[in-house]
Parts: sequence; C-alpha cells; structure tokens
Amino acid sequence: MQDLIHNPNETFYKEYLPASEPIQNPGFLNSSELSFFLSFFKKKFPNHGFGLANKLFFILCPFDFPELKEILAPKLSSIFGEFYIYSDINLDPVPQSSDFFIYQTKIFMPHTDSITHIPGYLHYKDVILPLAVDKDKHTSTYVCDQRYYGRASHLMHGKKCNKTTKYSNIFRKHTYDYYGVEGVQKNHKNQVSTDWLNTNIGNVIPHSFFRGLSIKRMFKWIPGSIIIQDPSLIHGPTNYKLHGANWKLGISIRIFKKNIKWQPNTIFSRYKPSCNLLKTKILPSLDK
Ligand SMILES: [Fe+2]
Repeated sequence: MQDLIHNPNETFYKEYLPASEPIQNPGFLNSSELSFFLSFFKKKFPNHGFGLANKLFFILCPFDFPELKEILAPKLSSIFGEFYIYSDINLDPVPQSSDFFIYQTKIFMPHTDSITHIPGYLHYKDVILPLAVDKDKHTSTYVCDQRYYGRASHLMHGKKCNKTTKYSNIFRKHTYDYYGVEGVQKNHKNQVSTDWLNTNIGNVIPHSFFRGLSIKRMFKWIPGSIIIQDPSLIHGPTNYKLHGANWKLGISIRIFKKNIKWQPNTIFSRYKPSCNLLKTKILPSLDK
C-alpha cells in the first residue's frame, strides 16, 4: 500500500487563510443562464470534451469561452472582488486541470482540491456550481470538519491500489493525522457513523476512507446555486446512485487571490506527470 506525496517539502498555507464556514446560496444562475450552460455543455462536448476512465467527463477552462466568462466573471467578482484563476497565473509545463465542467458517473473519495505551489497567488476558495442531476433526483455533497492545508489530496485510508495522480497526494497507509490533517477524530466517537455511510455512500467506496472524519455540513445539489468553501475543507459527493441517479453535472472553479507573502516551495511534483485526461467525443446522455 503506497502513499503518493508529490512534494515532501510542501509549504502549508494555514496562517495565510483564516478558516471560514462553507456556504451555499441559491439563484447564482437564473433559469435562462442555467439552460444556457446546459445547452453549451451538450453542444460543445463533442469538440471540447475530455474523459477520465470513461466515468468522469470534462470541458476544461470555462473562462476560455467568452460567452461563459461574460456570465461568470462579473458574478464571481461581485462576491470575491479581484480574483484570479489557475490558467491565468500558472507557469506549469504540464498544467493541472483546475476549472471545469464535470459530468460524473462515479462517486469519488473524500478529498481536497488545493493548488499550493504558485508564488504570490493563494488558492482562496473553491466554488461549485451544481447544474443538473439525472432524473432530477435528490443528491448532495458533504463537507467534513477536518481540514488539510497542503496541496490537493485524496483520502483513501486502507486502500490497496497503485492509483497515481498528476498533482494530488494520495493518503493510503496511515491515519490522516499522520499527514497533517487537522481535527481527526481519534476516539472514533464522533466520526462518521455506519448509518450515515450506508445512507450516503453505500458500498461504492471503502468505508475505511472515512476513518477519523466527521461531517460538518451537507449541501443539496441545487441547480443554479453556488457552494463556496475553503480549499482546506475535506469534502466529497454523496452517492447519487443510491437515489436512482446515474450522473450529475456541475462546474468547479478555484478562486485565487494575489498575496505576495505567499512564497511556497514551488515543486509541482517530484514525479513525472502521469495520467490522465483523454480527448473524447462520447458523452453519456444528459437526458433525464
Ligand atoms: Fe472537490
């Protein structure tokens, strides 16, 4: 069972980003904007789509499309003021994917998405825009009490596999406090209950991934709403398949702020980039 730690000398950002509570606001996109985003995704996917393992499907960099930027940029500025996105500020030879439409047909593990290696730019917030869910079924995302102030990481305690990623760490071997995850429940008293796991996750991912974690908030997947959370917060999707849905679609954006004091260790990865996104034209149906 191997961990994957891309930068053992990672600079942690705790002192640069005071912890704040995650929030969700309805009506970030109005109904005509929402329909526009859905038809945009359908129309553009054949020429701009990427797939991962035939389970996750992406259109990258929504801000590269002027018709989307025109809608998103002023709305996000009104919340965050001056902000930057990864594609504007990175100098990475093989960039990480950071902002995207994501059509998911799989349930993935608890994780964080932080990008920590860009001097002068601090990853300030994660933004999630739910757009649709199969058959309009109920689903949600969860946010844990636990925080991790290093780069994006996949929490997969106890998993025996050799999965690698281009940028994210993978914690498999030790309990999460070993890696610096804060707030890990050690006595198992307050950690995620078997009931919660059975109702929200089922058997799609091992329950050992949740060892020492506890749930702070659940956010309903409400199309048109905006979810804003600190990148340090461990989070993930609940299993929409338990509720009869086979897919969901949303947009994920990482918001950066200029901060000249942020001078991290700049290693993108000590490993050769592996993986992962492949051009694809085949998208499972968006019909509900
Ligand atoms: Fe995420």
